[in-house]
Amino acid sequence: MHVLISAGPTREKIDPVRFISNRSSGRMGYALAAAAVRAGHRVTLVSGPVALPCPEGAKRISVESAAEMAAAIRGCADDADVIIMAAAVADYRPVVPESRKMKKQPGELVLKLERTEDILAALGQSKRPGQILVGFAAETDDLECNALDKLRRKNLDWIAANWVRDGFGTPDNALVVFHRGGERHVLENSPKEILAARLLRLILPD
Ligand code: CTP
Repeated sequence: MHVLISAGPTREKIDPVRFISNRSSGRMGYALAAAAVRAGHRVTLVSGPVALPCPEGAKRISVESAAEMAAAIRGCADDADVIIMAAAVADYRPVVPESRKMKKQPGELVLKLERTEDILAALGQSKRPGQILVGFAAETDDLECNALDKLRRKNLDWIAANWVRDGFGTPDNALVVFHRGGERHVLENSPKEILAARLLRLILPD
C-alpha cells in the first residue's frame, strides 16, 4: 500500500527572521513512517522542519509552512491508500508577512493572523472510496468529546487522541484511538516507536 504521512510542526513566516510555530518534535510521524516501511508499505513522509533523519526506505518531502504542506499533500493524496496526518499544522498565519525585518517600536505590537487551510478536513471531503484517513487530536481538556467531534467533522476513519497537558514533543505518549464505527482502543504510555507500530497494526491489520 502507499502510506502518506505528515509529521512535525509548520512555520508561519512573520518576517525574514521570525516565525510562528509549535513544539512538535516530529517523532510520532517519523516512527509511523519507519513502522510502515518495516511492514512493507511504500511510504511518503511530508515533513515540517524537524531534527530527525529520514527513515530508511521512506520518501521525504520537506516543507515549512501550512500552505506548502497542503500543496505537497495534495500532490500525493490521490495515489495514497492510507493518509495519516500526524503533523502539528499551524491553525493561523500572519496575514501579511513583512518582507523586511521588523524593527522594534515603543509600546505593544499586534500581529494580525488568518486561518490556514485545514488540510485534514479537505482530505475528508475529497476522500475516495476505500481510502483510509487518520487524524490526530492533541487535547488538554475533554479528550474523548473533542476527538470524536474531529472524527465526525473531518470525515475520518480513525483518530488518535493524546493528552498534551505536559506539553508537546515528549519521547513517550499514550493514545486513545477511536474508529468511525465506534471501536475505542487505549494504547498505554510507551515510547513513540512502540506506539507507532501498535497504531499501524490497528489501522492496517495483516
Ligand atoms: N490539521 C490539518 N490542517 C490544519 C490543522 C490541523 O490537517 N490546518 C490536522 C492535524 O494534522 C491533526 C488534526 O488536524 O491530524 C488536528 O485537528 P485540529 O482540529 O486542528 O485540532 P487542534 O490542532 O488540536 O486544534 P483545535 O483543538 O483548536 O481544533
